[in-house]
Amino acid sequence: MTIEKNYDLSKLNTFGIKANAKYFVELKTEADLVELFGLQEFKDNKKIFLGGGSNILFAKDFDGIVIVNKLKGINVLEEDNENVLVRAMGGECWQDFVDFTVERGYWGIENLALIPGTVGASPIQNIGAYGTELKDSLFNVEAFPIEGGEKKVFSLEECELGYRDSVFKNKLKGKYFIAAVTLKLSKKEKKNLSYKILAEYLEQNKIEVKSPKDISNAVALIRKSKLPDPKVLGNAGSFFKNVFIDQDKLDKLQENYKDIPFFKEEGTIKIPAGWLIEQCGWKGKRVGRVGVHDKQALVLVNHGGATGEEIMNLANEIIASVKDKFDLVLSPEVNIV
Ligand code: EPU
Repeated sequence: MTIEKNYDLSKLNTFGIKANAKYFVELKTEADLVELFGLQEFKDNKKIFLGGGSNILFAKDFDGIVIVNKLKGINVLEEDNENVLVRAMGGECWQDFVDFTVERGYWGIENLALIPGTVGASPIQNIGAYGTELKDSLFNVEAFPIEGGEKKVFSLEECELGYRDSVFKNKLKGKYFIAAVTLKLSKKEKKNLSYKILAEYLEQNKIEVKSPKDISNAVALIRKSKLPDPKVLGNAGSFFKNVFIDQDKLDKLQENYKDIPFFKEEGTIKIPAGWLIEQCGWKGKRVGRVGVHDKQALVLVNHGGATGEEIMNLANEIIASVKDKFDLVLSPEVNIV
């Protein structure tokens, strides 16, 4: 394991933003982890654990140590007639995990196909798409305390997963390194077609769902049609979270915007932030080297050579205009450092 100094992070974040880290290290084994925890550079500096860099914005250079998780391996732990426990190491690419499960006909994460990033990052924000969240399949998370000490196994409850949220983003922020994630998947058909856009897509294309792969293929195609490929256009997926409001606020909004889309979910009402941003005239707009994606207004893009500060300025302008027009406050979904 080698520690590099003044390391260029532009290839390690899907926004493609140029920023330098004071120190940089890649972890390939659990032994590397133990070694790292003992190093002075690690103890004395601010730390960021990076997966695929698909949900992060470096607003400036990082005056600390960036640690990239490269721990690999996916295997079946145990199974019975109905369920199977599948464990993946944190450095695995999330899509490889999805492929492993759908190829074997296991149901649970097929709606989460093509989400960029790594397995280790998935519980931190409880990744979600097309009506499914990690929460629906998570069994446990294995993580090491960065202050040193034994590995801890977090049960589903202990992860405190919520909408794009977990204990690792709150009271345990920066305190644990996620080494592995185990899912409980179903061998029996368990399809989730609750997301309207997905159900409509299957119907329009006359796709009969017989296996989880039928769903993951469809989800992949929908995502490709809406979300820009970071290899072509720098981005970090949804830049903002959707907004949750109560009935009173919805009534007020409907007085002025009778076509406002909303989704009633578990006692609250979700307003798609993409719609709010589009209504403010931002969709497809370009401001210098940054802009708003033309097919999904929640996604901010780097047209090439942008700085993190330019993305932040755009984000702040969008927040201000949504506040002004709807009296709603958008909050970022990406981690800003
Ligand atoms: N909409 C617009 N204009 C837009 C975008 C969206 O009006 O430019 C409205 C439409 O009413 C549409 C609705 O928003 O029907 C929902 O759009 P979409 O299905 O694209 O989903 P989203 O709510 O905008 C969320 C996630 C995505 C995830 C999709 C699909 C968040 C912050 N984003 O977006 O996740 O892929 O649902 O499930 O929850 C990510 O987290 O990086 C991400 C891409």
